[in-house]
Amino acid sequence: MRIIQTNSYEEMSVRAAGLLAAQVLLKPGCVLGLATGSSPVGTYQELIRMCEKGLVDFTQVKTVNLDEYCGLESTNPQSYRYFMNKTLFEQINIDLSNTYLPDGMAQDAAEESKRYQAQVEKLGGADLQLLGIGQNGHIGFNEPNDFFTRDVHEEKLTQSTINANSRLFGEGETVPTTAITMGIGNIMKAGKIVLIAGADKKDIIEEALYGPVTPKVPASVLQLHKDVTVITVQ
Ligand code: GLP
Repeated sequence: MRIIQTNSYEEMSVRAAGLLAAQVLLKPGCVLGLATGSSPVGTYQELIRMCEKGLVDFTQVKTVNLDEYCGLESTNPQSYRYFMNKTLFEQINIDLSNTYLPDGMAQDAAEESKRYQAQVEKLGGADLQLLGIGQNGHIGFNEPNDFFTRDVHEEKLTQSTINANSRLFGEGETVPTTAITMGIGNIMKAGKIVLIAGADKKDIIEEALYGPVTPKVPASVLQLHKDVTVITVQ
């Protein structure tokens, strides 16, 4: 595991974007595993800047996102599909039909999980997976549990995650209580993993990287992956 300590959110974002861009340069038709939340916004801004300058080309790239809230239309600004379209996809030269997320509006979440699992497998999984981390150690939406999940599945969000994510929702908007997420198994199959964590994640990063490997701290499983780069802010 490589740990890169930076001095600011901006520096963390530039370093992370550099690794994603390097992946695309090495393999122009690669599959990028992408994340949502506030942590990757700066990384995406930097990728947009690099794309505008012609330093990276996304025309052959495919993307698979980690997760999506259940019950939100893709046109809902709180949905992860909307977030990805606005924050990244519509600002780079990627073909939108090459970008994949679970469908949060599917009638049957179990069926949709199976469909997305098959989609991820068909693409061969992510060459590089970008991750943020929740305050309770969740990655994707894999909450603390008694076991590590394997495949894409529906997850009931913990109250602490609902509370944490409610900051991104407006007054009167209800935070969904369930989501469809890649499992820990999907994440661990990625060729490379880049985890970004701002200064507010110091404690949980310490626990996840140096504590015991346990599904009670889902990100701790990353200690077992062969190619992880963690970029933190001091
Ligand atoms: C959500 C996402 C995670 C993300 C986490 C932390 O729960 N499902 O993928 O890592 O939020 O978000 P933030 O970066 O805003 O702290």
